[in-house]
Amino acid sequence: MSETMAEAKPIIELEDISVTYQSHVALNNINLGVPAGSFLAVVGPNGSGKTTLLKTILGTIRPSRGTVRVFGRPPWDLGEERRRIGYVPQAMSVDLRFPIRAGEVVLMGRYGRIGLMRRPSSTDREAALQAMQRVGITDLANEPIGRLSGGQRQRVFVARALANDPDLLLLDEPTTGVDIATSGSFYDLLYKLHKEGLTVVVVSHDMGVVANYADTVACINQCMVVHGRPGEVATGEVLACMYGPRAAFLDHGPIPHMVVPEHETLDTEKDKNE
Ligand SMILES: Nc1ncnc2c1ncn2[C@@H]1O[C@H](COP(=O)(O)OP(=O)(O)OP(=O)(O)O)[C@@H](O)[C@H]1O
Ligand SMILES: [Mg+2]
Repeated sequence: MSETMAEAKPIIELEDISVTYQSHVALNNINLGVPAGSFLAVVGPNGSGKTTLLKTILGTIRPSRGTVRVFGRPPWDLGEERRRIGYVPQAMSVDLRFPIRAGEVVLMGRYGRIGLMRRPSSTDREAALQAMQRVGITDLANEPIGRLSGGQRQRVFVARALANDPDLLLLDEPTTGVDIATSGSFYDLLYKLHKEGLTVVVVSHDMGVVANYADTVACINQCMVVHGRPGEVATGEVLACMYGPRAAFLDHGPIPHMVVPEHETLDTEKDKNE
């Protein structure tokens, strides 16, 4: 994070946030500030509250305690400014047999503005085209969504989120199920968007990859375990949060190796949550 960024007014401010589903506490006492123009990666084990955190920022979940402000206001009170948040949900569920073309999926990102009953205007079509150009998929516009690869499809969903020209982009595990090379070029794309001025918050399981791109990494497990620059947080604390207290990290050669003791991965976290 540069000095100017550190001084920038936070775009996202979470103060002492707790979120409870029925009796289950999903997030407990989270504090987080995300400066405008920064790139934040959120990591944590399954069920640690990552999606809940994004939905709290989006305003679709209201915390049981604490204050959330996005662009200086509670996200559920943003009104028109709501379009300033782009969201790529986890495991984007689309019926791949549905005969819809990639370009139409991107245009759906404009529906908040168009209204479902109105025909898209030339401005809407132009915005969708620009979003496709930004993520490099103009050549896929007429392809049926079901015929695209996982990596291409994710770019379509990012373009859909960009169609409203947001200032903040939230992505929930966008590279799940794609290979390492595709995942790398996807993060290159996010980095480019970040450099163009977009504030990026991405949930990921891949600490090793996101650490190369993010300004800061937040590791959550109901609570905020640690939040800092990648070089500072790649510690035993994060590894213990992600993989259990006896996980070891062998740093030999260019590719770090994670060694997780048998049967001591998510079960440990699950036990902790129960
Ligand atoms: N609608 C809901 N009702 C009840 N409990 C929920 C609901 N949504 C999530 N939870 C619980 O809250 C906890 C946090 O869920 P969340 O989806 O935020 O985790 P996550 O970190 O995104 O997990 P994953 O890595 O599997 O996507 C989990 O224990 C989950 O079972
Ligand atoms: Mg999730």
